[in-house]
Amino acid sequence: CGIVGYIGKRDAQSILVEGLKKLEYRGYDSAGIAMYTEDGLRVKKAKGRLAVLESQLDGAPLVGNVGIGHTRWATHGKPSDANSHPHTDMTHKFSVVHNGIIENYTELKEDLIASGVKFVSETDTEVISHLVAREYDGDIVKAVQKAIQHLRGAYALGVLTEYEPDRLVAVRNASPLIIGIGEGEHFIGSDIPAILEHTRNVFILNDGEMAVLTKDTVELMTIEGNFISREMIHVDWDAVTAEKAGYDHFMLKEIYEQPKAYRDTMLGRINTESLTVSLPELKLTKEKIAAIRKVHIVACGTAYHAGLVGKTVIETSARIPVEVEVASEYRYRSPLITPETLVIVVSQSGETADTLAALREAKKHGAHVLAITNVVGSSVAREADSVMLTLAGPEIAVASTKAYSSQLIAFFLLGVYLAETLSTQEQAWTKSIVAAMLSLPEQVESILENTDALRTYAESIAEHEHLFFIGRGVDYAVAQEGSLKLKEISYIHSEAYAAGELKHGTLALIEDGIPVIALATQNALLEKTVSNIKEVKARGGEIFGISDVNEVKALGKAVDEVFGIPATNALLTPALSVVPLQIISYYASLARGNDVDKPRNLAKSVTVE
Ligand code: G6P
Repeated sequence: CGIVGYIGKRDAQSILVEGLKKLEYRGYDSAGIAMYTEDGLRVKKAKGRLAVLESQLDGAPLVGNVGIGHTRWATHGKPSDANSHPHTDMTHKFSVVHNGIIENYTELKEDLIASGVKFVSETDTEVISHLVAREYDGDIVKAVQKAIQHLRGAYALGVLTEYEPDRLVAVRNASPLIIGIGEGEHFIGSDIPAILEHTRNVFILNDGEMAVLTKDTVELMTIEGNFISREMIHVDWDAVTAEKAGYDHFMLKEIYEQPKAYRDTMLGRINTESLTVSLPELKLTKEKIAAIRKVHIVACGTAYHAGLVGKTVIETSARIPVEVEVASEYRYRSPLITPETLVIVVSQSGETADTLAALREAKKHGAHVLAITNVVGSSVAREADSVMLTLAGPEIAVASTKAYSSQLIAFFLLGVYLAETLSTQEQAWTKSIVAAMLSLPEQVESILENTDALRTYAESIAEHEHLFFIGRGVDYAVAQEGSLKLKEISYIHSEAYAAGELKHGTLALIEDGIPVIALATQNALLEKTVSNIKEVKARGGEIFGISDVNEVKALGKAVDEVFGIPATNALLTPALSVVPLQIISYYASLARGNDVDKPRNLAKSVTVE
């Protein structure tokens, strides 16, 4: 989602709408603005692209100099007029825009309903507007401070009240927010592009901080109300760079967003004290779960590769047999689906035609369909029986990165949940997986801290026309994704092989200098993989090994170069090992001068067969 806010002397409507245009890439499910007008606080919002809102405003503009705006990427509640931001309280005197997720909103909503509040949307955000209204006692700053004490989760907020039209309050907690400094006017924005046209001087709020803006002043304070001072930053990005948050391409930005995507996807689903998983979105009783005889995972492209990891995760944790199949095959071969089959469809966009057709086929045969998707309100999400959202945020680059890895997180959560429900694994086992999951975001950050070696390697393979990936177990699944990523954006021909299978044919293709990327993160299989590596080495292959830091030494002797990823549970390694592969593909594509974000012949969402 994107937030923009303005307080000053100029026409706020055009500043908000222009700001939202710059943020539309962050979400385009709906847009809205709230402004202080001579009739009081007024809200206009509409489902769909910003153009829909714009055409409504054309007919009946809001006139004023203070306002907040929002462009939405749905998380809680489908895209609709009612679920669009800004949200108001029952008196329409308070209005709120929000980015992030309120983890405990169900409890808060129940409390508010019990005290007589009527909700008009399905969003988590609406609780905030009611809480602010409830806490208001003549001072909007205090009301916001009190209201947010009740919130758990991630949020960036912009708040306005009709009672104090000369103040705009902004809060940041684990969701970015900046304050733009002008002359006789001030701005808030979730991202720099929202305000770049008007000012390059900004304060960046840290977590747990808030700002109170008037047209002439900005006060910064902690959410407890202690005033703070902050150095002003001058932004010298051009508009195009700003849209990508300073990265050269959306793909790179999205690779770097993975730690956040992991955190958001786990948020509210993991109890960090008991190390257990809850998935209330799964509309399956314990009895129904116990009755599941087999699982089918159906998807296309990268999402299919996430399914390959999902198979190992579910079979290991829940001891239920799993088949994984590409949707275009599944839909036409009368698969053996019974009401005891759980069919999991995986789709970033939720609009892929073959995946949707597979879902319908599964439903026709009485299976429970669980969708793992990144888009609330997508066709797949609407038609599935249960929906597990990946909270990766909008993915713009055609080559999927953070959506794939968030799908892995979804499978880990599901695996643990099934094991807990079916008692197929000891509690100590599920808890150790959950504990390891909680470290993944930081571990990805540590991989991304220094990618020089990956870049150098990528530049060296850019000269080649063929490359092979090998691995065993989940490494083989990740190898397939790494290979697809490389093909998609660098156009280098590559193939992924189960390490032990190479010698049954493909080894004939290995000759002097052929690059081979060997994934060897599975400690229990390390010796076996090393034997396969030696087979390749003996035929002249140049091997780049990826292993966990504890094993790099052992692997280092067998390969030409080695990259260490942080150590984690063997089942979870894909969430880390895919990251260097994404980086290698990115830089190989760059070195070849390709259009990284829009590779030739490919589309982000394929809605035809
Ligand atoms: C297209 C995209 C791929 C994606 C696949 C499935 O081919 O180019 O990156 O993996 O569709 O998309 P979905 O939205 O269903 O995950």
